[in-house]
Amino acid sequence: MSRTMLIAGNWKMNGLAVDGVALAEAVAAGSSATLCDLLVCPPATLISAVGNAMSGSRVALGAQDCHPEESGAHTGDISAEMLVDLGCDFVIVGHSERRADHGESDEAVYAKAQAAHRAGLIAVICVGETEAERDGGQAEAVVACQIGGSLPENAKAANTVIAYEPVWAIGSGRTPTVEDVQAMHAHMRATVSASHGTYFADQVRLLYGGSVKPGNASELMGLTDVDGALVGGASLVAGDFLAIAGHCS
Ligand code: PGA
Repeated sequence: MSRTMLIAGNWKMNGLAVDGVALAEAVAAGSSATLCDLLVCPPATLISAVGNAMSGSRVALGAQDCHPEESGAHTGDISAEMLVDLGCDFVIVGHSERRADHGESDEAVYAKAQAAHRAGLIAVICVGETEAERDGGQAEAVVACQIGGSLPENAKAANTVIAYEPVWAIGSGRTPTVEDVQAMHAHMRATVSASHGTYFADQVRLLYGGSVKPGNASELMGLTDVDGALVGGASLVAGDFLAIAGHCS
């Protein structure tokens, strides 16, 4: 079993063209010094410009969401095929901010992940419990249920990444203990082993996300079942993003 670590930047709704291109250029310039896989997911408005700014580098390009259908009367939406057309290789689906802000259910996330696979994209499927769910001892059950509902039946380890992002750790500066992160990731691997088999479970990359910074990346990225990070705030500073990647072998 060997899983190449992946550090993914989720820029969320941040950046105009000038800043976004400068950030992408800085990440691309520093990427040759890193050993892990790198991914940047800018807002849809910047995908094309960021792709151009990073072209020829080893940083992959991704989006933050896609619509389940290929085309049609869905004003404002963007399909997975359109993202491929822009040069994307990855798309994040089911981020907790979309589950909360847009009422996305596990069924919706499943359909988006399927759309990503149909188009040839790697889906980064996000799961994670709320603070109340963790306090109530429900964290593992909630995450298993989200995986069960969001992970397409025919998903392959080659076209799927699963990100564990406890909702209460996102943008808060708080993280679970390393023991809790490792326990959750081991539980996730056991969950997908039961549904998708041991080969999938051994190969699929499980990212941790939620207040990952250069200062805590070393201990988090050193955990047995953590195969990288989904980074929000710190991905907006090239030096911080690259420093996080520097903790991955
Ligand atoms: P954060 O966001 O690193 O700012 O906590 C992580 C995410 O939402 O992907």
